[in-house]
Parts: sequence; structure tokens; C-alpha cells
Amino acid sequence: MKILIIGTGYVGATTAMVFAETGWQVTGLDIDAGKIERLKQGRLHFHEPGLEALIAKHVQSGRLQFTTDKEIAIKEHDVIFLCVGTPSLPDGSADLRYIRQAAEDIGRSMKGYKLVVTKSTVPVGTQEKIKKWIESAQQAAYPFEVASNPEFLREGKAVKDALNPDRIVIGTDSQRATEQLKKLYWPFVCPWIVTTPRTAELIKYASNSFLATKISYMNELARLCDELEVDVTEIAEGMGLDPRIGSSFLQAGLGYGGSCFPKDVSELVMTSRKHHVHLGILEGVMEVNRTQYAYLLDKARSRLTSFADKTVTILGLAFKPDTDDIREAPALRIIDQLLLEQANVRLYDPIAALPPHGSYRAVKVCTSAEEALRGAEAIILCTEWPEFERLDWKKAKKLLGQPNFFDGRNMMNAKRMRRIGYYYQGIGKA
Ligand code: UDX
Repeated sequence: MKILIIGTGYVGATTAMVFAETGWQVTGLDIDAGKIERLKQGRLHFHEPGLEALIAKHVQSGRLQFTTDKEIAIKEHDVIFLCVGTPSLPDGSADLRYIRQAAEDIGRSMKGYKLVVTKSTVPVGTQEKIKKWIESAQQAAYPFEVASNPEFLREGKAVKDALNPDRIVIGTDSQRATEQLKKLYWPFVCPWIVTTPRTAELIKYASNSFLATKISYMNELARLCDELEVDVTEIAEGMGLDPRIGSSFLQAGLGYGGSCFPKDVSELVMTSRKHHVHLGILEGVMEVNRTQYAYLLDKARSRLTSFADKTVTILGLAFKPDTDDIREAPALRIIDQLLLEQANVRLYDPIAALPPHGSYRAVKVCTSAEEALRGAEAIILCTEWPEFERLDWKKAKKLLGQPNFFDGRNMMNAKRMRRIGYYYQGIGKA
């Protein structure tokens, strides 16, 4: 079986690597010629630890190829994975235009049997739509199947997650598709869930929304912890030891960002509204997340009285460490608000860059944390890059205008920071 991957973003590039690594012949297809040119040279267009080296290895061995020629690629491959983006529309529901485009391309170019597998996160019912889109574009009634196979990898840990999945979920009503997929995933030893396409699609949304719920729950609780003078990190530790709760995703902070949680929670809420079901918990999850960055900004504003003409240093721009992805990053919302309130904003992130919008020209982008800290009257830590924890904060104090530290990720040791003379505020760390 030769595998075609349509879309070479985080999920597509990683999936291509996984199948090449497990011995299959793989082709990556994208409409973006620039991305494909880089990939042909074994270079990635985003930062993901370990992925570029594995892609380069398989490009060199010839097991992994890249192309922009969809017609030939679709004709030559029997198994096609859809890994294109499903961004949010203004109303919060998922935009399926790239999925539809890929499905119609497949329909138009196919000349024999195809197994089409959806890895992109798509709303419940999309598998049925994909079938119709393929059918309507077909020139003759060639047989095909569409299965759902959601991907659970995290950015920054994509290689490890994709090569060691904790479960493989397959949504299909076809025995033939199940057998083909079991063959494709032959080396993986993990639980399999073979179910209906709708169930597989919903498992992905339900999982991401549940993780987002854990985060918003802790963020809301952190606000109470501040009032009660209790440390939310200790609460998380005490809760996490209960195996029914688990210790992960209990870290209070500026809220969840990235390309998945915000859009997936929002799409699930939109789906529920369309079906006249009220998902009140998830509405609350979104509301906590929407206001969480402002919660920390309020603390900083009341310390400085006003942000106008004050120098504020932002440490970290990426939505989380080990990625250069700034989609839905809380740091961006904080910077926007600071600029609106006439602050002088200084920024340092080890790898992420600001979007090229005119308004961000007012931000002083620095090449080291030390440079960014010069003259700061407030520091707001937005991403928990390990180098921020390692910094000599005693020495750094001499660079500052005022030692005010607002830790949006509860990364630093609060007691130590206060002992060495910082006015330190985290989230739920009163
Ligand atoms: C997520 C899911 O984990 C993954 O399974 C899915 O396939 C895609 O979406 P990702 O967006 O890469 O992965 O990042 P993740 O590590 O899950 O973090 C998401 C956000 O939650 C980040 O903004 C992170 O800072 C935040 N977070 C995470 C918290 O605020 N607290 C936590 O305890 C954990």
C-alpha cells in the first residue's frame, strides 16, 4: 500500500513521518509550493523537536516524497489521509472548505478503489459529507471508503506522541477499511477502538474539551485560591494523586491556547446549539478561558496604577513551550491590551515571532531575556520556557526599573522570588 497524505502541517508532516518510519512508501501533498520545496530538502516550515531530522532521513532514503501534483498523486495512491486544516469560522464552527476541496479533488482524479481516512479534526457527521463530496465529483462510480481516524498528538511532543499513541480510534462501517488500517498501523501496541464514524469524530472533540475543562476548572479555582490565600499548585498536587482525577492538565495559568483546544471547544458548543442541547459546562469553560489573561493583567495594572508609559516585559509568546506556534496564544491578547493602554512593550521568546501586523511595530522585540528585562517596571511571563526558570533572577533585578513579576504560568518558585525582593504574583499563588 502506498500512502498519500494531503496537507503537510503539524498533523500531516508528523503522520507522513510515522508511516515512513514504520516502513511504508509515503507521499506528502500540499497546495503550498514553498512548503513542499522545503520538505523535499528535508526541511520543516515550523518548529517541532525531532521531526525535521526524521523527515530528512526518510526523504534521503526515498521512502518519503513530496509533491504539489494532486492529480497524479491521487491516481497513484490507494490510501489517502486527509490532514488539512479545519480552522474556525467567525461563528466558532469549523470551516470545512479544505476538507471539501480535498474530497472533490479525490473524486475528480480517482480511477480505482480508494480508502480515504480523515485525520483532521472534523465535526460529527463530516464522514458522511466527505462521501457525498467525493461521489459528486467522480467521473465514474469507482468504489471508495471513508474512515475517521482522529489524531491526538500534542505540538512540541508530536514525534513521541505519534510514535507511541495511547489509543488508535477508527470510525468506519467497513470491514475492509478496518483491516487495511490495522495493517497500516501494524507495529503499534496500544488499545484500538473500532467504532462508527460519528463516534470516532466525537471522541476527539470530547477528549479535547474535557482537557480544556480541567484547565478552566483549575483557573477558576485559582481565582478563589487568591482570595483564600491558598496555593493552587498544592491543591493540584493533592487532587492529582487521586487516580480518578490524575495529575495532568491541572496547571492553572493564563488559559489554554493553540490550534486545537479553543477551536474544538467552540465547535462542540456550536454543534450542541445546532442540536438544541445546552452544554453549559463547556460554555463556562470558554468564558473562564476568555477572561483568564485579563485576570493577571488586572493584578499588574493595580500594582502599577496604570500601564500608560510604563515599560512592561513579556517573557514568552508561543502558546506553550517547544513550539513557535502563536495561534490563540494568551501573550498576544496581553500585548494587544498593553498597547491599547499605551504601555512600552518589550518582548522576548526563544523562537516564536510576532505576526507582521503594523500595530506590533510598537513592540520592542529582544534577542535575549536580559535585553528584554532592561528598565522593566513589570514582567509578565506568558510561556513556561525552561530558560526563564534557569535565569539568575537575583542578578536580573539590577536590570529592572521595578521588580514586579507576574507569572502567568506559575513557573517560578514564589517564595524564592519574594525572598530575593520581587513583588511576585502568580495565578492562585497568593
Ligand atoms: C492538544 C491536545 O493535548 C492533543 O491531544 C490534541 O491532538 C491537540 O490539542 P496541543 O494544543 O498541542 O494539544 O497542546 P497541549 O499540551 O494539550 O496544551 C494546550 C493548551 O493548554 C496550552 O495553551 C497549554 O499551555 C494549556 N495548558 C495545558 C494549561 O494551561 N494547563 C495545563 O495543565 C495543561
